[in-house]
Amino acid sequence: MSVNDGGQPGDGLTTVRVPGDKSVSHRALLFAALAEGESRLEGVLPGADCQSTAAALRAMGVAVPEVSADGAPFTLRGVGGGGLRAPDAPLDCGNSGTTARLLLGVLAGAGVPATLDGDASLRGRPMRRVTGPLEAMGARFREKGVMDRLPIRVLGEGEFRGGRWVLPVASAQVKSALLLAGLLSGRPMEVEEPGLSRDHTERMLRAMGVPVRTARVGDPGGADRWTASIGAGPHALAPLDLRVPGDPSSAAFLVALAALGGAGKGLRIEGVGLNPTRTGFLDVFRRMGVDLEVIPDEVHRGAGDAGDAGDAGDAGVSDGSDVGEPTGTLLVRPSRLEATEVGGREIPSLIDELPLVAVLAARARGVTRIRDAAELRVKESDRIAVTAQNLRALGVTVREFPDGLDVEGTEAPLAGRAPAHHDHRIAMAFGVLGASPGCRVEVDDPAMVEVSFPGFWACLRDCAPRRPVVTLDGPAGSGKSTTAREVAARLGYLHLDSGALYRAVTLALLEADRSGRGRPEAEWSELTVEELEAFDIALERGADGFRVRVGDRYPEAELRTPEVTERVSAVARIPAVRSWLLGAQRATAREGGVVTDGRDMGTVVFPDAEVKFFLVADLEERARRRLAETRDGGELGAEADRLARRDREDAGRAVAPLRRAPDAEELDTTHLTFEEQVSRVVERVRGREDSHRGP
Ligand code: S3P
Repeated sequence: MSVNDGGQPGDGLTTVRVPGDKSVSHRALLFAALAEGESRLEGVLPGADCQSTAAALRAMGVAVPEVSADGAPFTLRGVGGGGLRAPDAPLDCGNSGTTARLLLGVLAGAGVPATLDGDASLRGRPMRRVTGPLEAMGARFREKGVMDRLPIRVLGEGEFRGGRWVLPVASAQVKSALLLAGLLSGRPMEVEEPGLSRDHTERMLRAMGVPVRTARVGDPGGADRWTASIGAGPHALAPLDLRVPGDPSSAAFLVALAALGGAGKGLRIEGVGLNPTRTGFLDVFRRMGVDLEVIPDEVHRGAGDAGDAGDAGDAGVSDGSDVGEPTGTLLVRPSRLEATEVGGREIPSLIDELPLVAVLAARARGVTRIRDAAELRVKESDRIAVTAQNLRALGVTVREFPDGLDVEGTEAPLAGRAPAHHDHRIAMAFGVLGASPGCRVEVDDPAMVEVSFPGFWACLRDCAPRRPVVTLDGPAGSGKSTTAREVAARLGYLHLDSGALYRAVTLALLEADRSGRGRPEAEWSELTVEELEAFDIALERGADGFRVRVGDRYPEAELRTPEVTERVSAVARIPAVRSWLLGAQRATAREGGVVTDGRDMGTVVFPDAEVKFFLVADLEERARRRLAETRDGGELGAEADRLARRDREDAGRAVAPLRRAPDAEELDTTHLTFEEQVSRVVERVRGREDSHRGP
């Protein structure tokens, strides 16, 4: 994954790339291992699932190099169809259904005995859909655990006869397992499915010289079916030279993010695989109103086009890949979303994106209906149940059906927890929702994304528009603190109350003095940075703002006692205190989205802040506000005199004197209502949000 803010001149979009396609990466590793000769692979997904495939191949004697995190090219010397060695220990497929099911076909066809196992989620997934047909064709298994579940031992004995199998539900994993069993046994194999599942196996095998035939079988009743077949062998696999395209299933999360407004002006996602058996989500998203453009990469015709799979219909082979996997760029902008209906034949082409469709539906106008997707119940989690539960927990109205969901869109703020249930796509779908405006979602198992999209969370953060740092400086009584607090609340930013830090230091000094362990008050001006560090004072970021921590406490009322208030101004003038707190203050604003008020925020603490204001008001008006704020009914003239004295001190002091930063806008609040002050600041911030993405 990579993000680059520059974008294409003029369109304000952020350019991103996603990691390699998981399905293509599994097949590239596996087929290159079975080839005769050296393959060159680039952009292989380094995710946990593909690492499981690589590790299993190594355990069977294939020298698979490290799959590096950056998709760097490597070569892999294949051992040929007959060269796999029986492993010494069970093969751990981790969380990867594709690894387990494709290997069942490979081992059965090649007659290699091995035990396959996986994590708790994979152990719960049905395997009979693969072992059933293989067994009917002569392969033998011993199911060691619960029937139909891993761990399963492939006995590697008995004569595999090949044959023809009709799948009740379209499945690329089952289709591929059967084709591989046919290929490695040299026996003819034909698989028929009621919908066209992803056809990476067919394309890649063809590119490696195996004559795989595909056909769409017309039915007068309109219920067309698809077949894929391999004739009797032997078939040798020629090595591959392949650049794996970006995973469209990973790109889908970013498309949704941009459509929901979680990526500023939008995204340009480059190098995305556009195999038409995978891009059903693009059609569905378009129907939902997603502002989406697809720009196919320059293509040239090649091996992948030799098929006759009817409506596979892509233009040909993209530059850089010789296996007939088209690629292109997706441009997505924030969109107004509408409900849609998803079902029937399009389901296999977006099976992995359906939880994400449900998440988008939560933000669309109307009720979205998803049907004919019972397969979702046997993925890495029961994706129908989990999606429904999580959406409901956030406040969305959902109806669950045996084969789908009805999701009623809402504009209301959504907040809550979304457990991932050990499922990478659930973690990411809800991560996207959480990164979109008006939503706060806590995903409990963020590391799950490593299965298919390493770097996902960093990518979300990098795609999010940078939100400015806003400073409001000004003299006492100019209204800066109340304004800052309200501006932060309206923008969903965090308010940094710099005064609270000075108060925390004052509190810590008073307590140390009182306990007899610290310096007496008379010597506070000689404080050193080391002594200050020992207080262990920090600003911690919470969901609603910053909290000041002093040691293991979070003082609040104690910061406002008269003793502290009396001394804080003197403490704030101590040079060691100022310089030490500078780091703490700056650290809070690293990610932006902070509104802060004080006296030197725009000049000293955040000289690079994107939005700066200097608030002023007539002395008399400030005195009036002060009295209203403190409610102690003092005399206006005396209060004005006090403020004038304070102004002179603030302007003349040696450390951080009060002055307007040259790039701060002066805002005279004397005749402004509170609402007017707040909206002036909010409007300017909104104008700056996202502006760095532009040309
Ligand atoms: C895959 C096929 C799909 C998909 C899975 C990967 C593959 O499963 O859900 O994530 O690589 O063949 P089915 O086609 O078996 O439903």
